[in-house]
Amino acid sequence: MKLYGNSRTTKGKRVRHMRLLILGGTQFLGRAIAAHACAKGHDVTCAARGVAGAAAQGTRFIRVDRDDPDGLAPLEREEFDAVVDVSRHPGPVRRAVKALKHRAAHWTFVSTVSVYADNRTPGQRADTAPLRAPTAPEIEHCTEETYGAAKVACEQAVGENAFIVRAGLIAGPEDPTGRFTYWPVRLARGGEVLVPGAPDDAVQLIDVRDLAQWIVLAAERRLTGTFDGIGPSFTRGEFMADCAAAVGASCTLTWADRAFLERHEIKRWTGPRSVPLWVPLPDFAGFNTRDTSLAHAVGLTVRPLAETARDTLAWARATGASVTGLTADEESVTLEAWHASR
Ligand SMILES: NC(=O)c1ccc[n+]([C@@H]2O[C@H](COP(=O)([O-])OP(=O)(O)OC[C@H]3O[C@@H](n4cnc5c(N)ncnc54)[C@H](OP(=O)(O)O)[C@@H]3O)[C@@H](O)[C@H]2O)c1
Repeated sequence: MKLYGNSRTTKGKRVRHMRLLILGGTQFLGRAIAAHACAKGHDVTCAARGVAGAAAQGTRFIRVDRDDPDGLAPLEREEFDAVVDVSRHPGPVRRAVKALKHRAAHWTFVSTVSVYADNRTPGQRADTAPLRAPTAPEIEHCTEETYGAAKVACEQAVGENAFIVRAGLIAGPEDPTGRFTYWPVRLARGGEVLVPGAPDDAVQLIDVRDLAQWIVLAAERRLTGTFDGIGPSFTRGEFMADCAAAVGASCTLTWADRAFLERHEIKRWTGPRSVPLWVPLPDFAGFNTRDTSLAHAVGLTVRPLAETARDTLAWARATGASVTGLTADEESVTLEAWHASR
């Protein structure tokens, strides 16, 4: 297979031109990678079933079903310089590695910080933090419960000589989960806002566009190694203040502690009846405090949180995107109970 093609000049910089395959590429992160690579002048192919959404404008779409053992056959005669795989399922990842990895000069696998075994110890780094045990070799697909273990199995299938990005919470426009989006939308509504935990608790995330840009840069530079793909750690107080200022919110914050939230069956992290992005302490005292100096040393740059909050709100308003978390009624009932308990 021919390696990278000629370099081109984009915005005054020499960039190695790539034929980039994204296994996925029709939703959120994969789509952002495709859009950014296209904007940089690369030839981008997205391979997916076509269920999640449309491929970004300017990319080529090839229909594949990776659940089918022969599902990658439509890519057999194609040539790529670099491949990005966003899958969470060990079976499809193993088949892609077998069929394509030896033919591409660079391989990126998007993993997750859920691979880590220890969520309690603050300040951990990708090169030293202990991992969960992988799912068993015969496991093809992950479930919600085995997500982290399945990603460990995927990483092992990808092996050395690849760029493995363990993403933390990904935020920004087009987020299908609605969990970061809850906060700019809620703050923009104003009034009294129920906030979980305490102002000193940690929050950590990455804007989808920053992660996408770094992944494309890594492919251009043929960067290999394993890194956390996440931005700096904020306190939750800073997080709320930055988001509120970014969306011009006029609101007051009422901080409710873990014991109260659990007594009122408020869920953690995501989903209906959750206060999104809340993780209980001390169980998750290390979760939002990862040391990302390794990633920043090799090209990860992040935009201000305010920009992510503003753009996410603008996207949510323009598209009517749904958020997950407490409804307005659930929040006001919970706030009443909070004040009654004081
Ligand atoms: N969101 C977060 O906060 C977060 C945090 C940490 C890590 N991550 C990781 O980041 C990555 C996110 O990727 P993403 O945003 O691009 O979304 P994703 O939800 O993982 O997207 C899956 C992609 O794979 C395709 N796909 C699914 N099943 C397929 C099949 N059987 N055959 C072929 N293609 C298939 C989908 O398209 P079709 O449905 O059209 O086939 C879609 O393009 C994931 O690896 C996730 O684990 C996310």
